[in-house]
This record gives sequence, C-alpha cells and structure tokens, in this order.
Amino acid sequence: MTPIKILVTNQKGGVGKSTISANLAAFFALKRNIKTAFIDFDKQSSSSNWLKKAANFGIEIHQAHLQSQNNSGLLLLDAKAALRECSKAAELVIADLTWTYTLPPQFLMEFDIVIVPSSISRVEMVSSEIFVLEYLQKSLAIAGKKHQIIIMAPSRIDAGQSTEGIFPFVSANDNCFISPPIEKVSDIDQYYFGSFLCEAQDERVAKNFCEFGSFIYEKYCSLVMPYQSIHSGVSNPVSSYRQERLKSPIAASGVQNLASASSTMPLKNERLGRKVVDLFIPQFLRSKSPIDNSKGE
Ligand SMILES: Nc1ncnc2c1ncn2[C@@H]1O[C@H](COP(=O)(O)OP(=O)(O)O)[C@@H](O)[C@H]1O
Ligand SMILES: [Mg+2]
Repeated sequence: MTPIKILVTNQKGGVGKSTISANLAAFFALKRNIKTAFIDFDKQSSSSNWLKKAANFGIEIHQAHLQSQNNSGLLLLDAKAALRECSKAAELVIADLTWTYTLPPQFLMEFDIVIVPSSISRVEMVSSEIFVLEYLQKSLAIAGKKHQIIIMAPSRIDAGQSTEGIFPFVSANDNCFISPPIEKVSDIDQYYFGSFLCEAQDERVAKNFCEFGSFIYEKYCSLVMPYQSIHSGVSNPVSSYRQERLKSPIAASGVQNLASASSTMPLKNERLGRKVVDLFIPQFLRSKSPIDNSKGE
C-alpha cells in the first residue's frame, strides 16, 4: 500500500510545526481511524515526544535526525530512506521538518500534501509565502506540473482575529489552499505530554482543531478517493474549496489578478513567478493595508 504523505514544514522555527503535526496525527488516528505513521525530522523531538507520552493509540512513531552534511545529494538520500522506512504499513505518514536549504527541493516533492504553518504577522507571512513561491518555481523546473496540494496554515491566531486576505500570492495558485486558522491556546502546556487538542476539554479548543483536521482530511480524501468525491453526489471537497476561494474578496483584488496570471498556467511562465517574488512581495511589505489593491494594477 502506498500511503498518503503529509509534510508539515517551514524554514522558520516557532511557527507551530511540531504542535500541528503531532496533533494532526492524533486527529487522523483518533477521529478518523486512519492507520498513521509519524516521522520527526527535528532534533528537538517535541512532536514525537508529545505523541509518545500521550495515550498509546497505535501511531507508529519514527525519528530521523538528518546529519547536516555538505553533500545535499547524500542528505536527500538519507531523508528519502527514512521516509520510505516508515511508509511500509501505514495509510498515512505525517512528517515534521524544519526546512533547511541544504535539502534539495526534490524532497518536498516526495509529499502529497505540504502544510506550511505561519503566524499572520506581515513579516512571517511574507517569508512563508516566499518559501512556497520559490519552491513552486523550483519544483516546476525540476518536475513539471505535480499534483501536490500546498496548504498555508495560519497558526496561533487570536480568537476572532480576521484572516481575510492572508497569503495573497500563494493562494493565487490552483493547488494552494488556506486552512481554517488554528487559534492560540492560552494553556497549551497542559496538553503537552497528556492529551491532544482535538480532544481538549475546552470545547472551543477541540472544535477549532477539529475544524482544521477536517479540512486536511477532506484533502486527504480527495487524493485517496478522487472518483468517489466527484461521483458520490456529495460536493467534491476540492472543487468546493476552490469555488470558495474564487468568491473571496481577495479574488477580486488587483493583486490577485496579477498573481492569478501565474496561476492559470501554474507558474509556467517562470519569469512571471519571479516578478511576484521580486516585485510584488516588497510592495506588499511596504503597503499599509494587508492587501493594497492599487499596487497590483
Ligand atoms: N495554537 C497554539 N497556541 C498556543 N501556543 C502554541 C500554539 N501552537 C504552538 N504554540 C507554542 O509555540 C511554541 C512553538 O511551537 P512549535 O509547535 O514547537 O513550533 P515549531 O515546531 O515550528 O518550532 C511552543 O511553545 C508551542 O507550545
Ligand atoms: Mg518543532
């Protein structure tokens, strides 16, 4: 069986990768009864420790501490071997990795879904978008169009904080989505080593994480049973989210129109992609409002 592989990554630390990956694995195993393996690529091991010390419910946990070495080819081989090792008996593999540029982008292509957690502070959001846009450019150059789903996950969001118009550049790409926000949990340490957010006693915390988990689960389903999701009479999750995105206010903005020129031919025109990174992102950083429509026209 070939499992679906989900990577939770960002080149930045402290954005919520370990929290999200460990809790997502728990959500899939506990709430969706999916045979899940987890691979922790981080030296701190916080996600695998969280999973190990909470109740045992059948998640297979692996740790793979990649030795930093100058030879990125060898690093890629090590990383792929570790991933293969834990993909043997599972339906789903979730990996937690702080991205390092010594790893070639080919490694990201090993995954069906890439989740990029990020706060929505302007600086962090832009650095996360650049990370994804640069990857999209490189991956296109290496592998052509790959049907990989990329999900920006707004993390540690204050309850009630607006997330409208976030990640405008990345969301212009057909295969990119924005998940429901993961709210800031005031007493998150009480869950660490004990339980998981999807089962929190605080109903708001549980509901919020389950909404996030269900969103990822829909994407998972669109990959494992694309035929059913199209022909079951139930709306196709992927297309319905795409429609939602098209209806969103950003879709009408000039920035979106510019960026979506690159999405209709998903970054086929590499120069246009470059323009988004080099020209519009600096404009976005300088502008006063989160989305400055006039700048993109
Ligand atoms: N939703 C959240 N609410 C409150 N604190 C959070 C949340 N997500 C992560 N944190 C805290 O933020 C810090 C960094 O999170 P972590 O998941 O370790 O990030 P990363 O793996 O990207 O370095 C940790 O102290 C963690 O407990
Ligand atoms: Mg971590």
